[in-house]
Amino acid sequence: MEPVYDKIGVGYSQFRKPDPGIATAICNALGNSEKVLNVGAGTGSYEPKDRKVVAVEPSSEMIQQRPVGAAPVHQATAEDLPFEDDEFDAAMALLSIHHWNDYRAGIREMQRVSQQRIVIFTYDPEFFGFWLTDYLPEITEIDLPAFPAMEEFHALPGTVTIETVPIPHDCTDGFMCAYWRRPEAYLDANVRSAISTFSKIGNVSQGLNRLESDLKSGEWERKYSELSSLEEINLGYRLVVVEDW
Ligand SMILES: C[S@@+](CC[C@H](N)C(=O)[O-])C[C@H]1O[C@@H](n2cnc3c(N)ncnc32)[C@H](O)[C@@H]1O
Repeated sequence: MEPVYDKIGVGYSQFRKPDPGIATAICNALGNSEKVLNVGAGTGSYEPKDRKVVAVEPSSEMIQQRPVGAAPVHQATAEDLPFEDDEFDAAMALLSIHHWNDYRAGIREMQRVSQQRIVIFTYDPEFFGFWLTDYLPEITEIDLPAFPAMEEFHALPGTVTIETVPIPHDCTDGFMCAYWRRPEAYLDANVRSAISTFSKIGNVSQGLNRLESDLKSGEWERKYSELSSLEEINLGYRLVVVEDW
């Protein structure tokens, strides 16, 4: 079957640039791991330059967008990693596991090939409160079933820590909630094309017309006035670290 990102990944690297604050959180979560596997690596965002990184990515379209000098990449899937047991110090998967056919198998594979820790950047499906769902409630229906509940991570073998990753107001990685303080961005079809959820929603025009009209009338600012003074916000993004299994 053709990897989904062969279709929806076109133009990804233009709108999905690693955010410096999120990069620091990921780097800290990797601890002193030297040999790191990046699973669902996409175009190579957040691959630390000061460690030995190997990438796994199923989509040719995403692989093509990896910059010159990026880590070597294997075209494979998380569920069947082409590596020996304990070949890496750490394995990370960043905004990827909700796309896997079987995330439990993928996580098992990450623990098999990694000696010390796994790091997963994901979204807590029990978090509610992103304003865009007031306009497009379909987002919730599409996204929530794809993300594992935090209890699933707590049940994994090993010591599990889960921390909140706050999203800055000028986040450079254009994922779903990145534009929480730049609402007009969601009206741009190019911005939306770098957010996989939008490829699964049918017709967004009704919801987006309401957003546009609220932006024009000042209603959006009135409704969400508390956002304008915030530099960063908790919107449900989490960094899961599992060690010592
Ligand atoms: C939203 S992108 C994230 C890419 C990158 N980790 C980043 O942070 O920019 C999700 C990635 O997961 C990949 N993916 C989808 N199914 C996968 C699977 N079964 N195993 C590994 N990666 C997969 C997609 O091809 C895509 O590159």
